[in-house]
Amino acid sequence: MKVTVVGAGAVGASCAEYIAIKNFASEVVLLDIKEGYAEGKAMDLMQTASLNGFDTTITGTTGDYSLTAESDIAVITSGIPRKPGMTREELIGINAGIVKTVASNLLEHSPNVILIVVSNPMDTMTYLVHKSTNLPKNKIIGMGGALDSARFKYRLAEAMDAPISDIDGMVIGGHSDTGMVPLASQAARNSVKVSEFLTEDRLKQVVEDTKVGGATLTKLLGTSAWYAPGAAVSSLVQAIACDQKKMFPCSTLLDGEYGLSDICIGVPVLLGKNGIESIVEIALSDAEKSKMQESAVGVRNTNGLLDV
Ligand code: LAC
Repeated sequence: MKVTVVGAGAVGASCAEYIAIKNFASEVVLLDIKEGYAEGKAMDLMQTASLNGFDTTITGTTGDYSLTAESDIAVITSGIPRKPGMTREELIGINAGIVKTVASNLLEHSPNVILIVVSNPMDTMTYLVHKSTNLPKNKIIGMGGALDSARFKYRLAEAMDAPISDIDGMVIGGHSDTGMVPLASQAARNSVKVSEFLTEDRLKQVVEDTKVGGATLTKLLGTSAWYAPGAAVSSLVQAIACDQKKMFPCSTLLDGEYGLSDICIGVPVLLGKNGIESIVEIALSDAEKSKMQESAVGVRNTNGLLDV
């Protein structure tokens, strides 16, 4: 199993690190355009191998896509991250050109690759990869919901003073501060709905804190987060590499599901060796349905800025 991670910045390197630590891939190639950067990150990570007990080989390259040849999975993290006060949508001008070029370079050397898009604005970048490549839709996966759901679970556990392993919850919709739809009515502690433990106001606060999860970190860190994004990507990569058929909310091209078409937006999918094995349609409350439609309007507005 060969995995390429394009972009050796914080998210890309964290993703490579988690993939290696989970020890399911034989090879990770880290690629960056900054001279020597990916090679340095790869070497540093390889020097953790004996300490962290993994056998994955991590190599780095400055822009040589021939070294990514025959990758099974490739993760696109390249582009600029947001600075405090910026929305993910504001990154579109720079990131669209980068993501399009990266996808094309990857496919030239790995025509059968499954692509995971992380660059922001992620739903629109996922849509762009669809429009600019001829890959079937099961092979293009946008990573947002897995991260947003992890942040939702963190906030729920915090509000209930509960261990995170007790918590189940999912965030669908667009990966943006206004577009996320945390499914609060379905979240549970073991099988007990979280509304049994939290007041309506507290649950509303959890939802709001979840939606601005990335922005909160960007303000604290001065740039966007990397540990949870990297861990979320590595979980998707593992589900595909190990054919786990695990369910994650991911951005995928919809064709009538959830009443939406010709848009990439976060919905629950099953991930296995073919990438997106299926889209899972779950029953939503009327409020969640209308939030999902509003979220789609936001994503479509951003898609409208694309030159495709
Ligand atoms: C975040 C970036 C990865 O939410 O979108 O941290």
